[in-house]
Amino acid sequence: MSITLPQYLLNAVQKQEIDNDLAVLISSVAQLSKVINDKVTHGALAGVLGFAGTDNVQGEHQKKLDVLSNEIFVHGVEWTGAVAGMASEEMDDCLPTPKQFRRGEYLITFDPLDGSSNIDINAPIGTIFSITKAPQGEITNESFLIPGKEQVAAGYVMYSPQTIMTFSFGKGVVMFTLNMNTGDYILTKENFTIAPSTEEFAINMSNMRHWAKPVKQYVLDLLAGKDGPLGKNYNMRWVAAMVAEVHRVLCRGGIFMYPWDNRKPEQPGKLRLMYEANPMAFLIEQAGGAASTGKIRILDVVPEKLHQRVPVFLGAKEEVERVVRYHQELS
Ligand code: F6P
Repeated sequence: MSITLPQYLLNAVQKQEIDNDLAVLISSVAQLSKVINDKVTHGALAGVLGFAGTDNVQGEHQKKLDVLSNEIFVHGVEWTGAVAGMASEEMDDCLPTPKQFRRGEYLITFDPLDGSSNIDINAPIGTIFSITKAPQGEITNESFLIPGKEQVAAGYVMYSPQTIMTFSFGKGVVMFTLNMNTGDYILTKENFTIAPSTEEFAINMSNMRHWAKPVKQYVLDLLAGKDGPLGKNYNMRWVAAMVAEVHRVLCRGGIFMYPWDNRKPEQPGKLRLMYEANPMAFLIEQAGGAASTGKIRILDVVPEKLHQRVPVFLGAKEEVERVVRYHQELS
């Protein structure tokens, strides 16, 4: 018999794996993702493609769907009574729960629409979220600076041929598929396990000349295949949406990398710690994989600012450990 998301969450509450508020919060993310999904799937028919004419705090041009998805997310969560505040890729500062709503015990950070460059070409995009316990007192940007290892839940929704919601509250990773006819998310996979070794990697190769020595050497060794020092042939994939790359790694293994590069040497990497690297690292570790900055475990990074960036290497454990060794030996 198929298990719906509400049934699954109720079961988890009854088993005391999560409390009621966390169940409500995950359920509200599922609900709002259906609204985003509706906009995404209608695209030009809903008039939502193209640029919004604004920039976000990182100086990136916002797409209409980025802005819209952010509003859908905020309004889908603020009334739940489960959150004390929210922070988003698309908002300069955090948003404490407005006074007219009950303040809850959680903080949620999110990237409402990851992989924006894929929006207008009808390629995979997604929503990423990370949930932690809220500290006492007034909610400010500093309240969110909690290391990823303290996340109580994290996940993503992927809008692609199928709409998939994948999450973990620390008891393994589960995946639900949206039945577009009934509007139900149905449990379609659990017990994700990422194989420790792999023959597939993902990195934006066009940046190779900008990488630091350890990453350049590692990727050259991957490319050398059977005749090189790693002794096997590797396949490469690049979807340009982290949600889709992580989804692939969870489903069939591999390593995904977005390293530092010297196009913007002052930036530690491209991906954001709080709403990209941390939630994805949480899922990957829950599935038996590893996630590192090349130097330390991503979940151990102590955040210094809300929109902080980090280098990311995640996926198959042996391969992530290998790239960490390259950093130790060649830095
Ligand atoms: O958030 C940034 C993002 O869109 C990720 O989802 C994706 O992995 C990456 O950027 C793609 O970057 P690039 O356009 O440099 O390949």
